Amino acid sequence: MRGSYNGCGLNVLSLLIFVLSQFVEGFSVENYVQKPAPGPIGRERIDLNRGWRFLRSTTNPDNLIYDERPDTLISNETVILKPWILPSANNFINDPAKQHERPDGNPGSEVPFVQGSFDDSEWDIVNLPHDWAIKGPFYTEEDAIVGGGMGRLPIHGISWYRRKLSLDRADKGKSIYLDIDGAMSYAMVWLNGNLVGGWPFGYSSFRLDLTPYLKAGEDNQLAIRLDNPTDSSRWYPGGGIYRNVWLTKVNPTHVAQWGTFVSTREVSSQSAEVDIVVDVENNGDTDSKVAVSTDIHAFDAVTGKAGDKVAEFQREVVHLDAGQKISINSSTTVENPQLWGPLPAKTPYLYIAVTKLFDKHKAIDTYETRFGIRSLTFDGERGLSVNGEHIRIQGVNQHHDLGALGAAFNTRAAERQLENLQNLGCNAIRMAHNPPATELLDLTDRMGFLVIDESFDCWEREKTANDYHLLFPDWHEPDLRSFIRRDQNRPSVIAWSVGNEVGEQYTEEAGAALAQKLHDIAHEEDPTRPATASMNYAKPNMSFPHAVDLISLNYQGEGIRDTPPYDGLEGITTPPLYPGFHKEFPEKLMFGSETAATLSTRGTYLFPVTNESSAPALDKEGGGGDPVSRRVSAYELYTAEFGSSPDKVFATQDDYPYVAGEFVWAGWDYLGEPEPYYLARSSYFGIIDLAGFRKDSYYLYQSRWRPDLRIAHILPHWNWPDRLGQVTPVHVFSAADEAELFLNGVSQGRQTKEASNYRFRWDDIVYRPGELLVTTYKDGEEWANSTVRTTGEAGQLRLTADRTDIRADGNDLSFVTLEVLDNEGNLVPSADNTTMFSLSGPGEIVATDNGDPADMVSFATTERKAFNGYALAIVRAKVDSSGTIILRATGMGFQHAEVILQSEV
Ligand code: GAL
Repeated sequence: MRGSYNGCGLNVLSLLIFVLSQFVEGFSVENYVQKPAPGPIGRERIDLNRGWRFLRSTTNPDNLIYDERPDTLISNETVILKPWILPSANNFINDPAKQHERPDGNPGSEVPFVQGSFDDSEWDIVNLPHDWAIKGPFYTEEDAIVGGGMGRLPIHGISWYRRKLSLDRADKGKSIYLDIDGAMSYAMVWLNGNLVGGWPFGYSSFRLDLTPYLKAGEDNQLAIRLDNPTDSSRWYPGGGIYRNVWLTKVNPTHVAQWGTFVSTREVSSQSAEVDIVVDVENNGDTDSKVAVSTDIHAFDAVTGKAGDKVAEFQREVVHLDAGQKISINSSTTVENPQLWGPLPAKTPYLYIAVTKLFDKHKAIDTYETRFGIRSLTFDGERGLSVNGEHIRIQGVNQHHDLGALGAAFNTRAAERQLENLQNLGCNAIRMAHNPPATELLDLTDRMGFLVIDESFDCWEREKTANDYHLLFPDWHEPDLRSFIRRDQNRPSVIAWSVGNEVGEQYTEEAGAALAQKLHDIAHEEDPTRPATASMNYAKPNMSFPHAVDLISLNYQGEGIRDTPPYDGLEGITTPPLYPGFHKEFPEKLMFGSETAATLSTRGTYLFPVTNESSAPALDKEGGGGDPVSRRVSAYELYTAEFGSSPDKVFATQDDYPYVAGEFVWAGWDYLGEPEPYYLARSSYFGIIDLAGFRKDSYYLYQSRWRPDLRIAHILPHWNWPDRLGQVTPVHVFSAADEAELFLNGVSQGRQTKEASNYRFRWDDIVYRPGELLVTTYKDGEEWANSTVRTTGEAGQLRLTADRTDIRADGNDLSFVTLEVLDNEGNLVPSADNTTMFSLSGPGEIVATDNGDPADMVSFATTERKAFNGYALAIVRAKVDSSGTIILRATGMGFQHAEVILQSEV
């Protein structure tokens, strides 16, 4: 082993120093209770999520603004704060000449809300992550201030969050930072009446140095102002401090923010080279000299703790002038590494690099970096290989909201999304179209998903009046660099996407030059991963694709409006462009970064059904859409006007085997973009609906992505009292190659699936109530059978929790499904009964939903109509109080149903 340092001995010494320091600083019971559990030596990261006061206003209450904007009137009194906010970006602007100098003055200091003496006792009390808009009510009018695109919820306005911070004696001399993981948007922060800085892009995580403004004692007043414009997005952005907030306390010389970059080379199961760059900064006003050491440990994903040490980097001693930042590079070898790879083919093993700074022999900082050892190969012919083995990308696009919980990040809600996707056979997520919550990347690392991490939905050319194009000139560099530095150690992240369908695709050389610039920034930050931007317009003979490392095609791969059902629709038409791009860029890996855009409402079937394998959802007979109920038929054949059914996408992917795979638009339904019915609230694109219930397409993807799974999924349901004697097509999703359908015991024919077919379809079945049975075969052997029956009337309710034991930490959730059943216990597939949820015990009902994009009843209500048989109640355990929680559902005069949950501290 290289290096002279014996890590074990010093750990004991450091522990001793830590224990002693607890006594020296005054060990009162009160201090003890409020102190976080001992963390890494020299560093405290304190959760600042609880106990904020909150005010929202739809008019400007303070005459402050970040900058002029199309939606705001500037008066003589308005104070523009941009010059004071821009310096917050300086660490992420590489050219010193372009960094910003803070002007004199302290704007905003006269605003009462920033002052400690202001009485905010009338304001709401909220905990973070907080999304002020999600409780609604929904705007239902045609010309609402926030329309369908942004989810019809009151996201707009100016808000203030206030909280006290206390500084104890032990903090004297420390550097103290505020770390905000995400605030929507135009965040500006004051401490004790002083403008500290801010960060306008709502999806960026950022750090502000509070040190110069803090004073000893309990009475430090933190005040954060947000300003969330309308027309800022094409989907629901949420409003508020919707991700976690932390206070980080370190010694003046410490590992900088996101100050390590670990990457791996020459990876095999025998050994791997690991490179590390450690950025150390001296935030103090005297010089310092520190020794820097990093050990690599196995990471126990269950406990979240470091396990056995497996390697170490050479220890380095560095001198830092006051205010200086230094990067230290070193490399080491890990023998017999456990490699990281996506499930189910591989295992997502993780390691943790523990970096320590020593002043003489005293540990003054400890910084942990989770990483994985893996190799990635991007090949124009073979697609993606992980650790030398080909992995087909079976991905979905995900927006950031969590359905009825809105934008407020919740780890369990995100984990539930990923669990459902993993069960689908999905192995990859494209983070559309903005930096995700860091905890979501913790999950993708741990659960073994591949991730395309995306920064922007637009550059200089706007998509909506108040979107990122307003910020792009000043902020694209810091937003992109900070995003990459934040996420660069994630083994799940395989590529950076610097843009989605940007308008610069249309501006020839100028657009390509900008793409190149962003691509180059990404490479400067991270030379180990490719950088791409998704193209829904750029063609193989244009300049734009030359500027990206991967060919990421939105819809163009499978062709846009290129089949007869789409004739006559407005917009571009292209044949499948995979072959054209492959010819022009044979070395570049190519994939469908957005595919399908199939529309459907769970459990809804409209007749007649198109005979085509893909058709636009239109409000006409056979068009799949019903503008009155705002529902789209779930035969999974109807698409956005530029889209294709899953079947059509599968066919092109199979025709061009060099294509590395696809990211379906979209995995889960999301708030906003309710194409084709903009009076609704949420999307129709998901494979899973907004509440988490599976649509029929779930089984279509599952039978392709998990071809060993023995399923045969029949659609539609078989309760059609008004369709007696009418043609009611029956389709079956299965990986089988032959199937026979029986209606009330009578064969409706045995079918063999042709190579270009991805479903069995009996389009001439005449409806009679009773039983549909399908038997399927694969390679001549029986595969899977299933039945669907006509049910009786609704007669009972059933509640089922996804988890009955939850942690009483104020965050953990149980997702409880309500099913409306007939007296025999069959789900009644069209039931829309209204149910009242009530709860007793130490928990609360946070939200309810049913997955219907057209249900405009607030998520905050406890009275919810079932939709096509199902509804959802989301229960959260109260913080620090263990006990039995009983959730009840009553309605329609049926006997109530209940489910018992246990919460434990
Ligand atoms: C794409 C876009 C996505 C989403 C999708 C479905 O063009 O990149 O953000 O809008 O269409 O409409």
